[in-house]
Amino acid sequence: MLRTARALTASLALGVALLIVPAASPSPAIGVGSLPECRLDDILTIPRGYDDWSHTLVDWILSVGPGYKPPDLVSISRAGVTGGGQIRKVAFDDLEAMAGAARADGTPLGNVSAYRSYRTQKALFNSYAKGYGFDRAINFSARPGHSEHQLGLVIDFAAAGTSKFVSETTPTGRWLAKNAWKFGWLMSYPRGKQDRTCYSYEPWHYRYFGRDLAAEIHDSGLTTREYLWSHYTTVDPKTGEHVSTASPAPSGSTAASPPPGEIPPAPAAPAAAPTTTPSGTDSMGAPISPPAAPAGTWFGLEPPIVLTAALLVLVSIGLVVSLRRARRPRRR
Ligand code: DAL
Ligand code: ZN
Repeated sequence: MLRTARALTASLALGVALLIVPAASPSPAIGVGSLPECRLDDILTIPRGYDDWSHTLVDWILSVGPGYKPPDLVSISRAGVTGGGQIRKVAFDDLEAMAGAARADGTPLGNVSAYRSYRTQKALFNSYAKGYGFDRAINFSARPGHSEHQLGLVIDFAAAGTSKFVSETTPTGRWLAKNAWKFGWLMSYPRGKQDRTCYSYEPWHYRYFGRDLAAEIHDSGLTTREYLWSHYTTVDPKTGEHVSTASPAPSGSTAASPPPGEIPPAPAAPAAAPTTTPSGTDSMGAPISPPAAPAGTWFGLEPPIVLTAALLVLVSIGLVVSLRRARRPRRR
């Protein structure tokens, strides 16, 4: 009997260890899964509460609607970035730190365009569509409600004192491409990824995610759109309905919250719009094929299910072995 008890304890300890090791690393929430193709639609994104800022996705399909206006916009110039404009307070400290580091390295930062209201984006997109035609404009300008600029988390960067977008061949653009993620900022539309981001290459357009999430996205090698769709977006891209997820959201995330109700007033002074027309270099590719198993699963199953099954198998083996030993006649 002593042996049986020992075998059982060993099996249980092994099972518990198996449970503890993966639990120690963060378990990602599961978004709706594979990346939807670049299709124009007007589905309200989920989540889109103002506290869900780091997990909120807007793209060709998803919108925050006309009523979305962040409540905590602050002036960018106080962070040591030239060019005026506003961003959300949640991004201010890391922007200030990044601006200081860039300045110390000889590449001080300027802003061409940051927060843009729904109304400003509408005027901007309409002017591009008029000048270039809708089909061209949609590759470099978001329709109103679909722009990350409306989130108040984006800056189109320039070298300080200028209003010309950076490129990755200029010192400031190079500095940002190498260092921005360390301060929580990521390039939303990298080169050669238009089939996934839907927009042509914009080496000047950076969105704030906070340092931890930005590091995770950076290390994943995914675009921000891919990462948000697979980890945090919980809206069906076809029906617009909320999709509940099987896995718990990681700490810091909040459940989908209702949209802000009020329509924002007309902006007192429209945020600066780009003064030059971005020229796209990518061509629209075919939609990417879905991954074999959704991110965050093990062998296509939720991790707790795989672990529980493994634990049960181990305990059963332990029991069988112990019972057999107990029945065997003892040699003297
Ligand atoms: N240029 C980006 C896509 C925007 O308009 O938000
Ligand atoms: Zn931009």
